[in-house]
Amino acid sequence: MVGIDQVLEKLSTVIDPDLKKDIVSMGMIKDLELNDGNLKFTLELTTPACPFNVEIEEDVRKAIGEISELKNFDMNVTAKVMEGRSLDADTGMATVKNIIGVASGKGGVGKSTVSLNLALALSQTGAKVGLLDADIYGPSIPLMLGMKDAFMEVEDNKLQPAESNGLKVVSFGFFAEQSHQAAIYRGPIISGILKQFLVDTNWADLDYLIVDLPPGTGDIPLTLAQTIPITGILVITTPQDVASNVAVKAVGMFEKLNVPLLGVVENMSHFICPNCDEKHYIFGEGGAKKISEQFNMPFLGEIPLNSGIMSGSDLGKPIMITDPESPGAVAFRTSAKNIAAQCSIQAAKLQEEMKSESTEQESENSAKKPAPEASTST
Ligand SMILES: Nc1ncnc2c1ncn2[C@@H]1O[C@H](COP(=O)(O)OP(=O)(O)OP(=O)(O)O)[C@@H](O)[C@H]1O
Ligand SMILES: [Mg+2]
Repeated sequence: MVGIDQVLEKLSTVIDPDLKKDIVSMGMIKDLELNDGNLKFTLELTTPACPFNVEIEEDVRKAIGEISELKNFDMNVTAKVMEGRSLDADTGMATVKNIIGVASGKGGVGKSTVSLNLALALSQTGAKVGLLDADIYGPSIPLMLGMKDAFMEVEDNKLQPAESNGLKVVSFGFFAEQSHQAAIYRGPIISGILKQFLVDTNWADLDYLIVDLPPGTGDIPLTLAQTIPITGILVITTPQDVASNVAVKAVGMFEKLNVPLLGVVENMSHFICPNCDEKHYIFGEGGAKKISEQFNMPFLGEIPLNSGIMSGSDLGKPIMITDPESPGAVAFRTSAKNIAAQCSIQAAKLQEEMKSESTEQESENSAKKPAPEASTST
């Protein structure tokens, strides 16, 4: 009769393509029951936005199918997002599993548009998602979400995020009277506002918090990098950035600060011909790939130049909501899955680091233990 060891041995032949580890040692098999040849378990993916979910599920079915003695097999597939940042209670934000800063070298490359649509794409997979508009000088998220009249309340000294399309949203734009004054605020005040938005907000449980940054290497990106541990930075470029080298400067700053670089998404990368569906790289091809190679970070996607994306932002009706099957929305969805996978990879790295730290600590402790007293018997 088939035993649990045999089942686990078969399951451990299935490798998660992102984490490059087998699903058993990653703890992805839960509640396994085997009774009289009837097998039941839960496959717990590391994110509902896993780009390989179908592939992993198929590999599991194939591996289990090779156990001929099984009478019945029942698999439940769920997802639990891994913690891609250290959730030290002292640093606050212990209920936010991943924080992703969206940065660029220069302005107008589409950070806010990409942040918003990625947040929506992640949320549509079932993840709990927040969106922090960290552009205090020029908040644009409220308009892009059609939330002109929304506001944030304060309860128990904590800001309550506004809500839209399943997202928890915080923006300086919700303070209507103050936001036009932001241009005259100096660095320390701006940093203070961002810190409050991060740690004094009731984010509750979030799988992903997307932080839409202003361009460049100013006070706000610096404050994000230095206030709390974050999962990493997503860099947005356009094909023209490679020539101007501005993206390289911004990426260099985060690298110096030891903030993980999750990867690059190229926005307005190409134009899809509405008649023939062909991609035209009108501004040149391969720029973002070059930057990703230079900094040894993954290339996570390319978003087409598309009037629906632009009008969605301008009218407060994002394309992920109004036209989720359009090529633009599909491109956001692909990028979102790749970003979620990078967060899982960061989480797995963190787990490894914590494991090796605790093994080091254990061996240090056992080295410090006094040696057993030598026998004095003569
Ligand atoms: N893929 C796209 N196709 C067409 N238009 C786009 C695309 N991405 C962004 N846009 C448009 O480009 C303009 C700039 O976009 P957005 O405000 O998102 O950039 P940003 O990088 O956040 O700018 P800033 O640096 O000022 O914060 C907007 O009008 C937006 O609608
Ligand atoms: Mg912006």
